[in-house]
Amino acid sequence: MDFTAQLQAYRNRVERGLADLVPPAATRPARLHAAMRYSLEAGGKRLRPVLVLAAADLFGAREADALPAAVAIECLHTYSLIHDDLPCMDNDDLRRGRPTAHRQFDEATALLAGDALLTLAFQLVARHYAALPAVCAALTREIADAAGSEQLIGGQMEDLLAESRADATAAELEFIHLNKTAAMLRAALAAGGLCAGAGPAELELLRRAGRHLGLAFQIVDDILDATADSATLGKTAGKDARAGKTTYVKVHGLAASRGHARAQSEAAIAALRALPGDTAFLVALVENMAVRAS
Ligand code: IPE
Ligand code: IPE
Ligand code: MG
Ligand code: MG
Ligand code: MG
Repeated sequence: MDFTAQLQAYRNRVERGLADLVPPAATRPARLHAAMRYSLEAGGKRLRPVLVLAAADLFGAREADALPAAVAIECLHTYSLIHDDLPCMDNDDLRRGRPTAHRQFDEATALLAGDALLTLAFQLVARHYAALPAVCAALTREIADAAGSEQLIGGQMEDLLAESRADATAAELEFIHLNKTAAMLRAALAAGGLCAGAGPAELELLRRAGRHLGLAFQIVDDILDATADSATLGKTAGKDARAGKTTYVKVHGLAASRGHARAQSEAAIAALRALPGDTAFLVALVENMAVRAS
């Protein structure tokens, strides 16, 4: 199978997993479940769940089905987007080509839909890996660490604190990128490995690849915010500069940002190549994310 067909096959598995494992929109209270599904079903690249599934496939299906973990991570990611867009955070009107959740519903519903998707992530892990307690505990720890106050949420906090600050340093920017974005990509690759029974050295390589891929990914996100249009992105372009965000483009300039993104992608690929199994798909995915248009 070529890369595009393989990526589509993984995305199809993710869509089926989301359809099956997330409560139907009519579940009481319907407004809450409709809001959860509204944001999930708007689409998006499904990068994190695809990373989970592809990382698990490196090792063959030695332990658990990776799909519930993949769905859990996409739910958690979607929560982070809903909250990121709230008026008290980035105040965005457009997400995944649709009005943001608080625009389509209202702020309270968006807040609760985010809370519910975050909680659902851990419900899915608890339910679907109960028969494998060691896998269940390791997945919980991996995902909770990445999502918590010292990583994803900590990165979001420092992102807001750095807003409108002219003196934010490159080191502060790296903390923001590593935590608000790279942490979840690293957890996604590690989660795939954990489902497949990867050993400690393999897990470390997956985490290293995820860290570099995550840095490259957020640098490209910053570049696209500065260079692409809203219709292509499916979210508001030019927003970072208007909000005075501390971005890669602001701190390093466009040309250097492109160079740093390239270097981080190459570091991710080097870590992937050190892993066992057929890493061609994951290597191609890193390349694909480096040149993405949205
Ligand atoms: C957006 O993530 C938030 C960042 C970490 C830059 P994605 O670019 O993966 O968003 P979707 O899931 O494709 O919508
Ligand atoms: C957000 O970063 C990262 C998250 C954890 C959601 P951004 O604020 O740059 O993401 P976009 O550009 O709104 O998707
Ligand atoms: Mg933000
Ligand atoms: Mg934002
Ligand atoms: Mg952005």
